Amino acid sequence: MPHLSCGLKNHRNKDMSPKQALALLRSDHDDGATVHRLERDAKAEIACEHNLKFMRRLPDESMSLIVTSPPYNIGKSYEKRTSQEKYVEDQAACIAEAVRLLAPNGSICWQVGNHVDSGEIFPLDILLYPLFKHHGLQLRNRIVWTFGHGLHCQKRFSGRHETILWFTKSEDYTFNLDPVRVPSKYPNKKHFKGPNKGELSSNPLGKNPSDVWDIPNVKSNHVEKTDHPCQFPIGLVERLVLALTNEGESVLDPYLGVGSSAIAALKHGRHAYGCDLDKAYVDIAWDRIHQLRAGTLRTRPMNKPVYDPNA
Ligand SMILES: C[S@@+](CC[C@H](N)C(=O)[O-])C[C@H]1O[C@@H](n2cnc3c(N)ncnc32)[C@H](O)[C@@H]1O
Repeated sequence: MPHLSCGLKNHRNKDMSPKQALALLRSDHDDGATVHRLERDAKAEIACEHNLKFMRRLPDESMSLIVTSPPYNIGKSYEKRTSQEKYVEDQAACIAEAVRLLAPNGSICWQVGNHVDSGEIFPLDILLYPLFKHHGLQLRNRIVWTFGHGLHCQKRFSGRHETILWFTKSEDYTFNLDPVRVPSKYPNKKHFKGPNKGELSSNPLGKNPSDVWDIPNVKSNHVEKTDHPCQFPIGLVERLVLALTNEGESVLDPYLGVGSSAIAALKHGRHAYGCDLDKAYVDIAWDRIHQLRAGTLRTRPMNKPVYDPNA
């Protein structure tokens, strides 16, 4: 069993098992005393810190996947609206650090929507694409993430998709299709002529999930909902973790929020790294990680079909 190197104030014990640490954490809660968080353990390093500061401590080429969703500069509670030039400049600094940290066979997935100004939309993937190309990264997919819920617009069509730009550092990159295959539409379909006549024509493990992903976004009645206004559905990140990394490798989210990327990584035996400026979100992230480890975290299954009231 991995042992924790704990950052628990007043309880420093390097040889504590996760179970013991969890019990200790709970006892802190039970006492009504200050809630102490584990700052770091064998598999997760998560901090309340500016991402540039956090990333600069990590070694070159140490991350197999960097997956994130930055602020969109639209005035959400966790960001300050700024000029488009300054926004792109800040993104450029974070992306440069991400490229330094990326393993030669690794992937960067930048999940974004639109910046909106006076009713005009500016798709952030278009604005940010040149920053990745500046570092020589290669775009493998522009994944369209569609979802059913959001604002009802009056003067344009309501936005129901965002995108994930998936870049690699080289042509030799990890891509595991089998763990993320989805059920085929006609699994029993057979070849009707030729040398394979009568044999199943589709892969029994299912089909490629394609580059259009219909996954419910996390709104109030979603099982994963926390206090964060814009959290990732864990299933979306799980698909990226399983396809783009191998067990034991490291996954970083430099805009971690409430830790959805870390949970997806830990759930599948990867190491999780991440940071967020907001302590309340980092506390929720740790809380969710402890729930995951205790087997009590509720998540929406990765490939669960979207509810269709007409079906
Ligand atoms: C769109 S949210 C990401 C939510 C995350 N995907 C999740 O599932 O919870 C962006 C997050 O970036 C954080 N943030 C903004 N600027 C940051 C910075 N410079 N360093 C670290 N975190 C930052 C915000 O506090 C916010 O939680």
